[in-house]
Amino acid sequence: MSDQHAQKQAAAKAALQYIEDDMILGVGTGSTVNCLIELLPKFRLAGAVASSQVTEDKLKALGIDIVDLNFAGTLDIYIDGADEVNQHLQLIKGGGGALTREKIVAAASNTFICMVDASKSVEILGRNFPVPIEVLPQARSYVARQLAQLGGEPIYREGFVTDYGNVILDTYDLDVSNPIALEKELNNIVGAVCNGIFAANQADILLKAGHDGVETLKR
Ligand code: A5P
Repeated sequence: MSDQHAQKQAAAKAALQYIEDDMILGVGTGSTVNCLIELLPKFRLAGAVASSQVTEDKLKALGIDIVDLNFAGTLDIYIDGADEVNQHLQLIKGGGGALTREKIVAAASNTFICMVDASKSVEILGRNFPVPIEVLPQARSYVARQLAQLGGEPIYREGFVTDYGNVILDTYDLDVSNPIALEKELNNIVGAVCNGIFAANQADILLKAGHDGVETLKR
């Protein structure tokens, strides 16, 4: 088992303390969340709101009821991973392409609990990991030109279609030194559905697993 995988498992285990029987749980997407999903059968959840089709399928396979967010009301907690996290608990997400559904479920939850291994922790977001941007297919070239004007280098994620039938532009070289401002600016591009900067709705609790265990940070 790789060190990184062991850390993902440790972070997922640490998240269990926030889960209660009878709650409707918001469940994210990715390999860290997969570690958590494996542990969910020990609870009697009222159901789960999934942030992707992949997660939905995994939850269903375990016999967990899937609840439509429109009928779930405000969720107590949403648990997910991240591709990068800074010291303000602001994130880049969307490496798995589920960013829009993830942002919706995170926004509709009282507490966003984020689980990461040590490799995800950065001083400035976006220096290594690109900002994924979900785009309506017809607007791909237009949005790419707007991103280039902002100094970004958008790369079309070929062969990938989101749960909503859209495409992704993984955008390198954007200046993410002010994540809240850039998130808003990207939201304003016509044809861009959602971007992977989670700054306006950053994590509330960060479970950061490292060699010495799991550190809990709160905003
Ligand atoms: C999915 O779209 C992403 O936002 C994931 O949450 C993120 O990529 C973290 O994934 P891992 O847990 O696989 O690193």
